[in-house]
Parts: sequence; structure tokens; C-alpha cells
Amino acid sequence: MQKRILVLKGSARTGGNSEQLADALIKGAKEKGHEVSEFKLADMKIGGCRGCNGCWQSKGNCIIEDDMKKLEPNLENADVLVIASPLYWSSFPAQVKAVMDRIYEYDPINGGKNLHIKESILLCCGETDQEGDFDIIRKLFQIFSEFNKITVREMVCVSKVNEKGDIRGNEALERAEMLGKAL
Ligand SMILES: Cc1cc2nc3c(=O)[nH]c(=O)nc-3n(C[C@H](O)[C@H](O)[C@H](O)COP(=O)(O)O)c2cc1C
Repeated sequence: MQKRILVLKGSARTGGNSEQLADALIKGAKEKGHEVSEFKLADMKIGGCRGCNGCWQSKGNCIIEDDMKKLEPNLENADVLVIASPLYWSSFPAQVKAVMDRIYEYDPINGGKNLHIKESILLCCGETDQEGDFDIIRKLFQIFSEFNKITVREMVCVSKVNEKGDIRGNEALERAEMLGKAL
């Protein structure tokens, strides 16, 4: 069955490690005939949630007029959400966290709009050589997904990649491509 895959690229570096991981997954997914839409968050202007609950009072319409409006139709259509992100201070960079916070407008209890996303995938890169340094981002992604009634399909966390392009030749690229094919 053809699926709609939404890929959010969280790094500001073009051709960076997490972007290459995302592109590998996209290649696999497209080969299988899935429909992919991708957004580079660093090229978009998406501000932080103000916690005003205006979205709950207006059936999910956030009062902030910014590029989140471009993402919304894609979020609402997607079957699978992929977040490709560098590891920043053990967590998500601000560009990714802003989108996660703004997804509050789809709160399953209080929000006025629904997401239909069934599965999520985290692709993450960090310079650390300690696998445990990904524990926090994994936990955050799990909490975010569960709260939004999304099943985490896989989290691919790649250690020991720092400079742009360090990921070249890494087996994780193949893993991401296979993941895309298996969707
Ligand atoms: C602001 C900042 C914070 C970072 N924090 C961490 C960190 O906590 N742990 C880590 O392993 N790498 C950290 N890094 C390194 C990046 O995660 C690493 O360079 C990664 O490969 C970048 O991915 P990209 O090429 O997709 O941008 C940090 C880099 C920056 C710029």
C-alpha cells in the first residue's frame, strides 16, 4: 500500500550527516512507490509555541502566522513522520523542537484537528562515541510519539559522526534505505 511519508530535516547543514541519512530513507521509500514530502526546517520560519492555548479554543488554528501553515497540510495527510536530526546538547535542535511544540495544536484530547500519522521514525547523528548519549533524545521522541498516538517504528542513532560527510560509507545509510523500502 502506498504511504505518505513526511520527512522533516532538522539540520541547517546542507549535505550534513542527518540529511544524508534522511535522503537514504527517502530513496528507499520512493523506490517502493511511497509519496514523500520533505522540508528543511532551517529554511523555514517557525516560531516557538506561546502556550496561549489559542489553538484549543479555535479548533486547532494556531494564532501564529508563519511557515507552520505550510507544514500543516502535510502533517494532516501523512501516514509516517520521519524526523532527521543532529544531536544538540543531547536533544533536538531548536528548529525541530519548535515544530514538535507547535504540534500541540493537534493535542489528541484538547486539539481541534487530528493527525492520522500511524508511525514515526527518528534518524539522528551525533559526534559522541557513547551510545548512551542518545538516551535523552530517544526518550523525548518516544514521549512525543506516544502522546500523539503514533507508534515509534524505529530510531536510528549514529554515533561518531561530526564533520559534514563523516557518515559517508556508514552502514547506517543502508539501514535507513532499507527502512524506507520496508515502509
Ligand atoms: C550546538 C551543537 C550541539 C551539539 N551537541 C552534541 C551533543 O550533545 N552530543 C553529540 O554527540 N554531538 C553534538 N553535536 C555534534 C553534532 O550532533 C554532529 O556534528 C552531527 O553529526 C551533526 O549532524 P548534521 O551533519 O546532520 O548537522 C553538537 C553540535 C552542535 C552544533
